[in-house]
Amino acid sequence: MSLELTAVTLTYPDGDGRLTALDRVSLAVPAGGMTAVIGPSGSGKSSLLAVAATLITPDSGRVVIDGTDTAGLGRAELTTLRRTTIGTVFQQPNLLPSLTAAEQLQVMAQLDGRSPRKARSRALELLAAVGLADRADRRPHQLSGGQRQRVNIARALMNEPAVLLVDEPTSALDHERGAAVLDLLTTLTHQRATATVLVTHDRAHLDAVDEIAEVRDGRLNSRLGSRT
Ligand SMILES: Nc1ncnc2c1ncn2[C@@H]1O[C@H](COP(=O)(O)OP(=O)(O)OP(=O)(O)O)[C@@H](O)[C@H]1O
Ligand SMILES: [Mg+2]
Repeated sequence: MSLELTAVTLTYPDGDGRLTALDRVSLAVPAGGMTAVIGPSGSGKSSLLAVAATLITPDSGRVVIDGTDTAGLGRAELTTLRRTTIGTVFQQPNLLPSLTAAEQLQVMAQLDGRSPRKARSRALELLAAVGLADRADRRPHQLSGGQRQRVNIARALMNEPAVLLVDEPTSALDHERGAAVLDLLTTLTHQRATATVLVTHDRAHLDAVDEIAEVRDGRLNSRLGSRT
C-alpha cells in the first residue's frame, strides 16, 4: 500500500472543548489505485487529505506514506517526504502569476536540486501528458480555467510522487472540462502508479474509481467503486 491511514483521529480546538474532525478513520490506497472521498460539507474530507499530506499531525493513529511511518519523522524529514513523495492538487489552482506553465513545474524540480535542463525537459513531457504541449510558455492569465487546473495537476506530478492527493479539482470547471480532468487523473494514476485520493462532490466521478470512501461526521465507510 502506498498510502495507509490506520485509526486516525483528529480534533480541532472548539470553544471550551474539541471538535472531532476525523474519528478512527482507516484508509488504504495501493499504487495505481484511486479512491474517491465523498461526504457533506464539513464532514472531514479536507481534514483527511491534510493528514494524508502530513500537513496536520493527528491526535492518534498511524499515517504510512510509501512504506514510511510518518510518526518517526521530524519536521525537516516531513518536508522532504512531502516534496519527494506527495503531490497535492487543491480546488483552486494556486499558480504563480508571473511564471509560464513550464516554469511553474520547473520550480518544483529546482527545489529538489535537479539540473535546470532536466527540469525543463520533464516539465515539457508532463505538460504534453496533460495535453498542453503547445501552452508551455503561457502564463496563467493566458490559460483557461481547465488548462490552469491541468498545469496544477502536471505540477503535482513533477517530483514523481507515490501519493497524489486531489481536493475537488473540477468544482470550478464546467461539466465537460471536469470530465476531461477526471479522465486525465485516472490515466495518470494508472500510468504513473500513484496512490490517488480524490475528494469530489460529483457523483459522475464515482464510476471511474476503485473505491469510494464516504465521510460523515468524521467517520468513514468504504465500498468498492464500479471500476472494480
Ligand atoms: N483549522 C480548523 N480549526 C477548527 N475547526 C476546523 C478547522 N478546519 C476544519 N475545521 C472543522 O472540521 C470539520 C471538518 O472540516 P473539513 O474542512 O475537513 O470538511 P470538508 O468535508 O472538507 O468540507 P467541505 O466539503 O465544505 O470542503 C468542520 O466542522 C470544520 O468546521
Ligand atoms: Mg473541504
